[in-house]
Amino acid sequence: METEILSSQETDLAQAAHWLHQHQPVAFPTETVYGLGAKVFDEIGIQRIYQLKGRPSDNPLIAHVADLSQVELLAESIPSSFYVLAEAFWPGPLTMVLPRRVEVPSSVSAGLPTIAIRMPSHPTALQLIKVVGEPLVAPSANLSGKPSPTTAQHVLEDLQGKVAAVIDDGPTTYGIESTVVNLTQPTPIILRPGSISPEQIESVLGQSVPLATLNEHTPVVSPGMKYRHYAPSTPVKVFTSWDEFLSGPNSLSPAPSLVLSNQLPPTRLTSNFTIKPLKAETLFSEFRAADQQAIQHVIVILDPTTQMHVGLMNRISKAAAATD
Ligand code: TXA
Ligand code: MG
Repeated sequence: METEILSSQETDLAQAAHWLHQHQPVAFPTETVYGLGAKVFDEIGIQRIYQLKGRPSDNPLIAHVADLSQVELLAESIPSSFYVLAEAFWPGPLTMVLPRRVEVPSSVSAGLPTIAIRMPSHPTALQLIKVVGEPLVAPSANLSGKPSPTTAQHVLEDLQGKVAAVIDDGPTTYGIESTVVNLTQPTPIILRPGSISPEQIESVLGQSVPLATLNEHTPVVSPGMKYRHYAPSTPVKVFTSWDEFLSGPNSLSPAPSLVLSNQLPPTRLTSNFTIKPLKAETLFSEFRAADQQAIQHVIVILDPTTQMHVGLMNRISKAAAATD
């Protein structure tokens, strides 16, 4: 199939809705990353999402809503903490896991009794959900295992000819995926760090909100955590300072390397090294660019501000771990 490139104009959103009603997934922008959408009650569309992405069938999807009444169609026994967090952070990059209503297809949640829900703040995403008239499930619109797409071009790199349409509305704002918090247990737990920090959530709830850790002894509460993610094919190596990098063998590499750093190197580097800023907004697009150009290594030089950003550090360490 030929992939249609649509704009955020009314007639184009109507065309996107047409495809969604025909069970054809459509990629659309959110404030975090581009999503690959299907209607939440559309079993056929949901199966197509898993196929298109090559996504393991045990990794559940996030439902995107345009207003609070849609949450009540999807979830039950909603705790008061949900309303407190929705008031503080919605619309925005916070996903909350709640008990799933039985009417919702279990394929949305890969069979889990829960459902992850968020209200995006991107006007085009909200408008699309309104035009369709139903919440949209949407994983990131990349092939499984690739970095999430932050532009329509990235979506096309992975899904051109496979997806019916992409709504191109420019680069996304945050560049990394939403924070996912599980509210189905007495103590809320962060399953995936993102742009909303643990401290922001803790200060609104007035209690500590731990980050889930995953090892072979932990039951899989969020299946997505066990998959290698966010990784370019180009190897990623992380250093805590320029000095650490410069004193090791990587600094002598004759192969073209991309260095992501917010600080200037203390000495002049050879022309093999290109230095770009290290930030959430552009991390995934730099990873993708490295794969497209003949870059042999991505070198990440951490700085104190980056090390405080739990969501960004999570994406960097996953990318580095995947290429160990
Ligand atoms: O920012 C975002 O969240 C983007 C945009 C498109 O909204 N979406 C996104 O979706 O990142 P995806 O499918 O790439 O990641 C969803 C994450 C996975 O780690 C998945 O395991 C977790 O959310 N998740 C989804 N439903 C869950 C559930 N019922 N219980 C626990 N974790 C869940
Ligand atoms: Mg994803």
